[in-house]
Amino acid sequence: MVKILVGYFSNSGNTKAMAEAVAEGARSEGADVDLKSVEDVDMEGLPGYDAIVLGSPTYYGVMAADVKDLIDRSVTHHGDLEGKVGGAFSSSALIGGGNETTILSILQALLIHGMIVPGVAKGNHYGPVSIGQPDSDVKAECTSYGARIARLAESVSP
Ligand SMILES: Cc1cc2nc3c(=O)[nH]c(=O)nc-3n(C[C@H](O)[C@H](O)[C@H](O)COP(=O)(O)O)c2cc1C
Repeated sequence: MVKILVGYFSNSGNTKAMAEAVAEGARSEGADVDLKSVEDVDMEGLPGYDAIVLGSPTYYGVMAADVKDLIDRSVTHHGDLEGKVGGAFSSSALIGGGNETTILSILQALLIHGMIVPGVAKGNHYGPVSIGQPDSDVKAECTSYGARIARLAESVSP
């Protein structure tokens, strides 16, 4: 069974609701999922995950500082996360408000860790996005993404 971290920052609950749906999707594939706010993530335990998925509200087109703080602190494990699976999702206020660039800002960091990041051909290509609160379509996108991450982690985990 693969172990997956779904870490998020959420000030008004939109990204949190997406994180819950991503976690639900990963669990539907039998993964052991830790769903945690980024400030509750145990840095020591980071290399114990087969996949790490991070969610952030869009703040000026990039991830919120709280998520960046987690990533910056993860430098203590630089090299240890290579070959693990990574993913990202984001909630913004506006269409064209920068949710995709926010996802890419997170994925850039995960790629620098050497992680394997899936694209999505039929759906939100870079990872799930929501305008404000996730509706049922966005939640379905999130559960599908979580399931995809879990299957990929299963296939690449040693
Ligand atoms: C500091 C700050 C910066 C923001 N920047 C953007 C932005 O660039 N584009 C956008 O569409 N929404 C922006 N928003 C709105 C949030 O991304 C949006 O309300 C989001 O759904 C909040 O997610 P949460 O409920 O998980 O906190 C910003 C909000 C804040 C507080």
